[in-house]
Amino acid sequence: MKFVPPEIIDEIRGKADIVEIISDYVSLKRQGKNYVGLCPFHLEDTPSFTVSPDKQIFYCFGCHKGGGVINFIMDQENLTFPEAAAKLAEKVGVVIPEVDISVQDYNKQSEIRRLLEMHELAAEFYHKIIFDPEKGKLPLTYLKKREVALDVIKTFYLGYAPPYWNTLVKYLSSKGFTPEEMEKAGLAAKSDKGTYYDKFRNRLMFPIRDYRGKVIAFGGRVMGDELPKYLNSPETPIFNKSQSLYGLNLAAGYIRQFDEAIIMEGYMDVLTAFQFGIKNAVASLGTSLTAEQGKLLKRYSSNVLIAYDADTAGAKAAYRGLEILQNIGFRVRVLQLPNKMDPDDFLHKYNYGAWVQLVQNKSLSLVEYKLQAAMGKYNLKTIQGKADVVKELLPDINRIKSQVEKDQYIKLLANTLGISMESIYADLRQSKKIVEKTDIFSKEKHTNNTQVPVTCITGGKRQNALALAEMNLCKLMVEDRATFDLVEESLGLDFAKEEKITAILYFIKNIYEEFDWLPVTLIERLEQPILKQFTSQLFMEELPGNNNRELLVRDYIKTIKLYRLKKRIQEIQKIIHQHEQDNMTGDTIQLLQEFTMLQQQVQQLKR
Ligand code: UTP
Ligand code: MN
Repeated sequence: MKFVPPEIIDEIRGKADIVEIISDYVSLKRQGKNYVGLCPFHLEDTPSFTVSPDKQIFYCFGCHKGGGVINFIMDQENLTFPEAAAKLAEKVGVVIPEVDISVQDYNKQSEIRRLLEMHELAAEFYHKIIFDPEKGKLPLTYLKKREVALDVIKTFYLGYAPPYWNTLVKYLSSKGFTPEEMEKAGLAAKSDKGTYYDKFRNRLMFPIRDYRGKVIAFGGRVMGDELPKYLNSPETPIFNKSQSLYGLNLAAGYIRQFDEAIIMEGYMDVLTAFQFGIKNAVASLGTSLTAEQGKLLKRYSSNVLIAYDADTAGAKAAYRGLEILQNIGFRVRVLQLPNKMDPDDFLHKYNYGAWVQLVQNKSLSLVEYKLQAAMGKYNLKTIQGKADVVKELLPDINRIKSQVEKDQYIKLLANTLGISMESIYADLRQSKKIVEKTDIFSKEKHTNNTQVPVTCITGGKRQNALALAEMNLCKLMVEDRATFDLVEESLGLDFAKEEKITAILYFIKNIYEEFDWLPVTLIERLEQPILKQFTSQLFMEELPGNNNRELLVRDYIKTIKLYRLKKRIQEIQKIIHQHEQDNMTGDTIQLLQEFTMLQQQVQQLKR
């Protein structure tokens, strides 16, 4: 992907009006200062998707997606930031310069080029040895024993690292690479004597490729029972384990074609699946699935079948993966393999037809899978146990959009637990109410009163006044440098209970010097999706009343200060009370002095 310099990003943003661009995808209607429409990222029948032409950002009050125009294209088209920028550039006629990159970037790029070249050469080196009549005997025999077909060996470019100390180091040296470079690539290591030796020896080699097919790392398997079973390349500038999926380069087209990806645990599983004609499978490289891997898949399909090993580790990993995938909008199913089997074992033992049947009959939807897991976790003979199972599943049932589907699951749940459907519906309604109550913004956002409540102490509704003050103060700060400075001076940056607010304020503090205080710049620079969403929401929310910003800032600072004072007062009261009970008089006097002083401060603030 081409590197897009920041000034070009600015130019693209300048020319790509967010309302115009989004109008190509969503039908927008003007509403006050903003435009609204039906959100393209979730199903809805009343528009909560909002676009602000002033701020050049979008935000959905329903699903909380938000960002600038480039983020919109990223989400809509499943592209990376530079890809989305390039797409927009073409649309609005901005030319991205070819090689106008800084020296530092250039060095980095040439480092990456050399790493890739080294990996390509190493893969070729290992692969050729497999077919050497002498040196290839051992690995070929092993592969034969495991029934790996010849064309699979070739397609996946399997190889063999010889059992000597420095065959690869010698080979790569002859091609002009230094031992230091090989060490950096994870292909060589340095001995105590200062000499370099091959990292992979006497192992069956699996080249790991990125989605374009470039070799970026290796996994090496022992052919006996030694440990570790697999040795993998370390993280390097070209290999990030949590962002790679084994086999994706080959599977991508099939995933798109079948509109489903199968995620397996191991290299061998993917190989065997391929051999049996199941070509839409990838492996998550042994670790549990990450959101980045999910996003990579999302380019090709939104449906996933998890086919992890049928052991407890596999089940645990599947469960975590499931949550992650469903959070980024996948429809997930989990395959249930017979005990102790992985896809490789299953296919060799039972063949393709049995696999198809298994997928049809033994794959569970998310809710079914969770129900099964929850049933193992709680004692279903007790009422409490049943209630716990229902409680655990409600959030997932709640999320199901189709009423028909929802009904089916409630029926399943009711039948399985031997309870009435009506009681589950009642719990469902109850849990919805709680969710709405805790959503501070949606409760408070349309109160049009200038009088900001300043008497917030603890508990219940009054707590919300404090949360609202924190939020709106943060909004005022991120929109204006002078306000940021002022609040930092009087409250510091740690005033909020809400961690997201603190994170955002410190993020700004870090980029303070170069920050232009444009909403879209901030949103695009925040990397965590949750902060991106939160900030989009902050910018999109209306301030209460007549928008007199100075007045609001003063009031919010007051609210927070009052809260702090009252909290300390309560603490002191408690200690004094304790002292009275214990008949201690020691530092009570000092505390009483502080108490009086704090009360004076409260009075002053209220004036
Ligand atoms: P498995 O132990 O299930 O291996 O680990 P496998 O792929 O089925 O291989 P065979 O059938 O025993 O030959 C699953 C994946 O976990 C990672 C590898 O990516 C492996 O494919 N793994 C496992 C490691 O990285 N290191 C290890 O020591 C073990
Ligand atoms: Mn296996």
